[in-house]
Order: sequence, then structure tokens, then C-alpha cells
Amino acid sequence: MKIFIDTANLDEIRKVSSWGIIDGVTTNPSLIAREGKDVKTCLRDITKIIDGPISAEVMSLDAEGMIKEGIELSKVHSNVNIKLPMCVEALKATKKLTLMGIKVNVTLIFSAQQALLAAKAGASFVSPFVGRLDDIGEHGTNLISNITQIFANYSFDTEIIAASVRNPIHVLEAALAGCDIATVPYKILQQMVSHPKTDEGIKKFMSDYNNLKKHNTDA
Ligand code: G3P
Repeated sequence: MKIFIDTANLDEIRKVSSWGIIDGVTTNPSLIAREGKDVKTCLRDITKIIDGPISAEVMSLDAEGMIKEGIELSKVHSNVNIKLPMCVEALKATKKLTLMGIKVNVTLIFSAQQALLAAKAGASFVSPFVGRLDDIGEHGTNLISNITQIFANYSFDTEIIAASVRNPIHVLEAALAGCDIATVPYKILQQMVSHPKTDEGIKKFMSDYNNLKKHNTDA
């Protein structure tokens, strides 16, 4: 399973990049706005840290505008993928951008039917938002299982990115469902590393060994 970091914050990307487990980055307009920089500057900076797919979202809502923006953003670096919010215009733009060799990530996916249409239009990635489904009383990761099954049934190449990840259980359930990628915020990546029994174990090993050393020095 590939792990992307869901952020536009360079410090977070730098820190996590040093762990050696990050395969790519996803951004969205809210995350870019939080950094106070324009999208192209953000993307340029990110490409200097991560050598893998980096998703950047367009702001247009019509196919023509999406394609124009997509072409512009893709010029920043060959690793840049174009994120389009799911709608009819996005399907049209997905088809055209894909034919031009520009990879598309269809985002704001909330049903398997939307994912199926995006895959048929040629999307390289679909991003189902699991946390936002939980917010409205659904079990978000069930959507990942459904899309995984549909894509396997028909051998679609489109990769599924579990997005709107809010806790480590989302990552676990996405992985169990066979999801290709989870895009995970920095805070959740930190939570995934830790376990209280690991911390307790490290402390005990250190103290046992240091006590033995002290005993040998004293003797
Ligand atoms: O990957 C999409 C993500 O950035 C949205 O997350 O927590 O705002 O639903 P959230």
C-alpha cells in the first residue's frame, strides 16, 4: 500500500520524508490556503522534497477551465497530477487531460458509482472521502471496499486513494480492503507510529540494561 501525506505544509512534508515511507503528496485548496502561498509555488517547493505523485486541485468548474488550469499546473513538474472535483464537467476534462498524458485524480468521491464513472473517463486516481462520510453517519471505509471490488471486477487501472483520513483506523480499514493508497495527515502518521506498549518496552529495556551496566561498574 502506498502512503501519501495530505498536506501542503513543507515542514510536515520534510519531516515525514525523512522517515522513508512517503510515496506522494495530496493537496487541496483548503490546505494550500492554510500555507498562504499560491498553488504553483507550493507545488514547486514540494517537488524539491518528494519524488512521487503530487496532486493539485483546479478551481474551475467547467471542463474548458479545468483543462486550461490542469495544463498550467502540470507544467510545474511531471509528477504533478490534476485533481478535479467530481461532476460531469470533470468527467469531460478527465477524458481530455488523460488523452494528453496528464494524470487526473477525481476527488470528492462519495459513492462507488461516481468512482466507476471517473475510472471510465480514464482517471489515474479516485479519492473517496471516508471521514466526511463518517460525518454524515455512514461507515466511510465501506465505500473503499465497494470501489476496490468494482475496479477488480473490471480490471480498471485507476488507483484508489483513501482521503479525508481522520484516524489510524481509517488507514487500517483501507489497507484491509486492498486500497492502493491512503493519503494521511501528519498528525495521523505520528499516531500510526506510536503504541504505548512500545514506549513502555523501550523504557524497560533501557532501564534493565543501564542497571546492569551500573551494577558491573560498582562491582
Ligand atoms: O484528502 C482530502 C482531505 O484533505 C479532506 O479531509 O478532513 O477536510 O475531510 P477533511
